[in-house]
Amino acid sequence: MAGSVLKNVFTQLGGTGVRRYATNLHKVTLIPGDGIGPEISAAVQQIFSACKVPIEWEPVDVTPVKGPDGKFGIPPAAIESVNRNKIGLKGPLMTPVGKGHRSLNLAIRKEFNLYANVRPCRSMEGYDTLYRDVDVVTIRENTEGEYSGIEHEIVDGVVQSIKLITEPASRRVADFAFQYARNNGRSKVTAVHKANIMRMSDGLFLRCCREVAEKNPDIRFEEKYLDTVCLNMVQDPSQYDVLVMPNLYGDILSDLCAGLVGGLGLTPSGNIGEGGAVFESVHGTAPDIAGQDKANPTALLLSSVMMLRYMNLHEHATKIERACFETIKEGNFRTADLGGQAKCSEFTGEIIRKIEESD
Ligand code: NAI
Repeated sequence: MAGSVLKNVFTQLGGTGVRRYATNLHKVTLIPGDGIGPEISAAVQQIFSACKVPIEWEPVDVTPVKGPDGKFGIPPAAIESVNRNKIGLKGPLMTPVGKGHRSLNLAIRKEFNLYANVRPCRSMEGYDTLYRDVDVVTIRENTEGEYSGIEHEIVDGVVQSIKLITEPASRRVADFAFQYARNNGRSKVTAVHKANIMRMSDGLFLRCCREVAEKNPDIRFEEKYLDTVCLNMVQDPSQYDVLVMPNLYGDILSDLCAGLVGGLGLTPSGNIGEGGAVFESVHGTAPDIAGQDKANPTALLLSSVMMLRYMNLHEHATKIERACFETIKEGNFRTADLGGQAKCSEFTGEIIRKIEESD
């Protein structure tokens, strides 16, 4: 079954400077986030400490501050921390709708040029969902497309939003997808697009994917329309492996995939750039349960497992991942989102108990 406890799916994330992390105590920037963010970040910190992971957390506050241009943005101290450490773990951040400062999540990805968003979605053993064999990875271009933030009102009642697609960014994420597939023993990359309608923009993205595919003949390549992929994915997800796509499509399709394996509380992600990476849970701040010790920390924990593998700390990653999967599989300490009654602290405590038992 795809959800085997011992299978390391959240593995190597491209050849982005991972070696130097293996031996020294390394500092990691921690952005605890809003809402349930501080609770699930504390859970990850406790589990890391029980597992004796050789890292030192550097917590930063990303509450937007007003810059010299009068615009709100990420505080300089937080930017310096990520630039210095080159690696970060991030909880969810509240995004105000409409006017005000723009999404901090987008700002962080742009600031550090984290161009590839990687989201593995895999069935979890012991937690039943519609399909038992989901094992897909969505790779989303993270810096442009519909999320470029170029919007303006032309005249009253007419707003224009620009979808920006460039050759370097498309080629870069396509390269990453093939490299990721190879590093992780995967056999196929699907380019997801709407080039039948957006002939120029998605046409360019697709052309870049085709050109990169030609240079990677050991990995199978296919092209699919986004709507077809959505239909196929909910009917038979086993036909997909690694999928690469522009920003907006990736945002939507990756949530759809998360839904197939049990929801956003379970799925991790990594934002990878040339000079560093920020790993984050994909769910939001869950204001309805914040501060009540009810949150499921799994998504952030599995994001931290991806981070450990990126840092070449495979042994710690495997130990934590195994304890987490076993706790979910046994079913005695599931949080409410998974149909259980356990508190976040009880679920965390059981993972820690399993880690300590295995030492
Ligand atoms: P949400 O993901 O916060 O919540 C949706 C539902 O899922 C809620 O019922 C919540 O209780 C539940 N949920 C989410 N994460 C959970 C967890 N770890 N354990 C248990 N239950 C969990 O989405 P919503 O309500 O649309 O957004 C709330 C805020 O979060 C907004 O300000 C939004 O902008 C922000 N957000 C931030 C994201 C990020 O920082 N990456 C991503 C998505 C939303």
